[in-house]
Amino acid sequence: MSEPVKKIKIEFPKTGQVCEVDHDDTLVDATFRYDLPIRYRCERAVCTTCMVEVLEGMENLSPPEEREAQTLKTIKAPSHCRLACQCSVYGDVKLDYVPITDPRRKRPEEGEV
Ligand code: FES
Repeated sequence: MSEPVKKIKIEFPKTGQVCEVDHDDTLVDATFRYDLPIRYRCERAVCTTCMVEVLEGMENLSPPEEREAQTLKTIKAPSHCRLACQCSVYGDVKLDYVPITDPRRKRPEEGEV
């Protein structure tokens, strides 16, 4: 008899939304199925519409591939942010969506604080 497949929990503490997904789903797959508060457009690591702040569980997301890493570097995204369209989920995570106009998207310039 096979063991039941463990579900993975995706939480949005600021909105109270929680869903459970299968191992290896992408965040955008989960968004589509569960109407999560993540917006997306290109799904190719180009537009950055899907940026999320990872509050907990960064180690449970697939590591950024070159295109995502380059895009995040280009926009100077904080290191705890990821592009949801590029992340597969391997364990529980807590996230917050970062809208395109949100000031959290910018890492402070040197000298700013
Ligand atoms: S949807 Fe465009 S970068 Fe993710």
